[in-house]
Amino acid sequence: MAESAELYRPGLEGIVAGETSVSTVLQDSLAYRGYTIEDLAEHASFEETAYLLLRGELPSASQLAAFRSELDRHRPLNPHVLEVLRRIPAETPGMDVLRTTLSMAAHFDPYRGNDLDALVGRATYALAVVPGIIAARMRLLAGQPLIEPKPGLSHAAQFLYQAFGQMPTAMNEKILNLTFVLYAEHEFNASTFACRVTTSTLSDMYSALVTGIGTLKGPLHGGANEESIKAINQYKSAAEAQAATETQVGGGKLIMGFGHRVYKNGDHRARILEKYVEPLGRERNDMNRVEIYHAIKNVVWERKKIHMNVDYPCGLVYFFMGLPLDVYTPLFVASRISGWAAHAIEQFTNNRLIRPRSRYVGPEIRPYRPVGER
Ligand SMILES: CC(C)(COP(=O)(O)OP(=O)(O)OC[C@H]1O[C@@H](n2cnc3c(N)ncnc32)[C@H](O)[C@@H]1OP(=O)(O)O)[C@@H](O)C(=O)NCCC(=O)NCCS
Repeated sequence: MAESAELYRPGLEGIVAGETSVSTVLQDSLAYRGYTIEDLAEHASFEETAYLLLRGELPSASQLAAFRSELDRHRPLNPHVLEVLRRIPAETPGMDVLRTTLSMAAHFDPYRGNDLDALVGRATYALAVVPGIIAARMRLLAGQPLIEPKPGLSHAAQFLYQAFGQMPTAMNEKILNLTFVLYAEHEFNASTFACRVTTSTLSDMYSALVTGIGTLKGPLHGGANEESIKAINQYKSAAEAQAATETQVGGGKLIMGFGHRVYKNGDHRARILEKYVEPLGRERNDMNRVEIYHAIKNVVWERKKIHMNVDYPCGLVYFFMGLPLDVYTPLFVASRISGWAAHAIEQFTNNRLIRPRSRYVGPEIRPYRPVGER
């Protein structure tokens, strides 16, 4: 028997596990600090969004300029971080690389103490170095020289410039900025909750962020954007995709990029991002892939009445932008650090150790027998 009133739901489904003022995820709306995702997606840069999440209010022009120059100040990667990056085997998954190298970068944390400015500063440092790490890894794998950051670029343009070695098109900068805004924050999802658990032990910000990376990696969470494009790319035509998806759905297989623990009427972020799928497909002269995308989506809807989540259009959008598969989930991290850090700060400044109970389903108490008698 439990020692206290027992409330148990597998996967904590529907359980309220804490309070937050960072964002609200409801069936019919998503808002960061009271601003709807539609409004932010339409108008905000990622830098404004990250500032909003970290500080609670949108920045004034001078606050935004200061935040941008702080990001620029931290962008050049420490030589020891680069050295580690060069030594990691080529076949290592991008999320593992990020987990190791953000940990390495943490040793060069320029901030001291745990007041709000130091905590936000630490988040800013992590936000600045992660896209540089992803771009450097991309170029090392391609055998290309590394590109120094160019101060003054937007966060999205900076990554694309360092990744591809040339200034991005306005369209690519706009879409990457949009995905960064959409991915920035999502209440008590698995990785954010994991960050809060780590923080609740009074561990440090970087440990919380690295916890988040390990949790986001899984295909049931952030890894779905990579899996969804792998699925799209295995088909030659919409008819083939439709037939194969029918079989998979009929056989009870999970289709990556669909379904959500909270949203049952559709994911707002997916609808916002999907608007760019067709224009990009046309620009890339690859409407066949767009048709395959729709064919899979239609089967999952018709057969299971399950909507796509943001990872589904994101996989195809990143593919059209020419990004290698292995950076898709790391780019999710580049954005989500802002949400993770906002939650870590919130947890840290109003902390109670997160320590739930479990329901025991193992053997009854039994006597120990010495090894020779077993
Ligand atoms: C996100 C996810 C883990 C949420 O899962 P959940 O809240 O536990 O949802 P449930 O497992 O209760 O799903 C209810 C039903 O829909 C089915 N379902 C859910 N997602 C599905 C998917 N992507 N493909 C096919 N069927 C799916 C389940 O199998 C279940 O069917 P059943 O009632 O016949 O057994 C789940 O939808 C999933 O694994 N999606 C694929 C991974 C993904 O895209 N992750 C990114 C999330 S943003």
